[in-house]
Amino acid sequence: PTIPREILSLKDLEAKCLETMAPMVRDYLYDGAEEGHTIRENLEVWDRWLVIPRMMRDTSNVNLTPRTHQFNQSWSLPLGIAPSAMQQLAHPSGEKATAAAARSMNIPFGLSTFSNYTIEEVKDAGRDSVVGLQMYLLEGRRDLNIELMRRAEAAGYKAIVLTVDSPVPGNRPGLIKSNFVMPKHMKFRNFSEDFGGPLDQAQDTQFNDDSTTVAIANDTNPDSAAARTPEQTTKSRGNQLIVDSSINWERDMTWLRENTSLEIWVKGILHPLDAEEAIAYGASGIMVSNHGGRQLDTCVSALDVLPAIVKQVNGRVPVHLDGGIRRGGDIFKALALGADFVWIGRPVWWGLEVAGEEGVRWVIQTLKREFEVVMKLMGCRHVGEIKREMMVTKSGLLS
Ligand code: FNR
Repeated sequence: PTIPREILSLKDLEAKCLETMAPMVRDYLYDGAEEGHTIRENLEVWDRWLVIPRMMRDTSNVNLTPRTHQFNQSWSLPLGIAPSAMQQLAHPSGEKATAAAARSMNIPFGLSTFSNYTIEEVKDAGRDSVVGLQMYLLEGRRDLNIELMRRAEAAGYKAIVLTVDSPVPGNRPGLIKSNFVMPKHMKFRNFSEDFGGPLDQAQDTQFNDDSTTVAIANDTNPDSAAARTPEQTTKSRGNQLIVDSSINWERDMTWLRENTSLEIWVKGILHPLDAEEAIAYGASGIMVSNHGGRQLDTCVSALDVLPAIVKQVNGRVPVHLDGGIRRGGDIFKALALGADFVWIGRPVWWGLEVAGEEGVRWVIQTLKREFEVVMKLMGCRHVGEIKREMMVTKSGLLS
């Protein structure tokens, strides 16, 4: 399948996707925490900034590559594909299609632990583009985390991306209402045990945003948690994997560093002092993110906290951002406020649903084309020329 010619923007593609996407999958893709304020915030924040272009700067040749290497590689754009779980929901080739598209466009891809294809299969499909394995720390099953890391190392991944914004899954009433379950023919193939069964919707069980079987176990006491070793935490319940709500900087960053040779990136930072913690505990990079508005409702957008985080980090490690990137101009604005690199989540699913690998490629190509035009109109010949002074907030114009 190809993308119909009347589709010109990611917004058009989204509309096309929604014509065919199964309601249950749509609910999973779009659902956010509670009332969805943060989801809306993630989309609206870009329009609060207006750009001030420079003229007559010979932009006949524009270089779109990132200022510096990321994951020790050079990429065609300061854009990557963020980890999102269960991509077979959008297309039978799932993460393999996404990784292949990333590879063909020379941009990086992060694989969710809760993928429907394995660490190795996805690496094969995306080769050098498959740089990161995203992980949650699993309560009482650090053996599984260690196994995942061993496999990622052996397969040639560069980084473990630790998602730190999910000590518990967010409050997600929408997903419960829509009775979301992963279809039986799909599996969490990174696990040899069968964690992919249909969910038993017990009272104390809620869906994690990222998997049907990651459940909340609220019987842990957060005060005593830090004192326990990972191995001492409760075993996973039945065939459910439980995210570890005792996750903390001191114990778990130390544990990760002792247990993998890969770079450790921290995903889900929103406070400058957490960026400081991440660096203090040896993070190789920081991803400023609110998990696409799926975890904590009314929390800030990544863009709003980016300048303070960039100031705090002061160039010690790369600062990446995700959430609500839908246009080439959004990439520009994130870079103007100091991001080294940005990532997209949901748009990939629109591409997958409409045209599989080809659709994901179309998404990347479209953002690339838009970004290039914006660069030229802004008078920027390379990303190093994108400057904070080229933007004002709407309210800033009044002063
Ligand atoms: C996600 N995200 C996510 N993050 C993560 O660390 N592990 C995961 O397994 C998932 N799974 C997931 C599934 C789906 C369907 C979505 C939409 C998102 C969050 C993701 O990495 C990223 O932070 C956001 O998607 C970025 O926001 P946008 O681009 O979707 O607005």
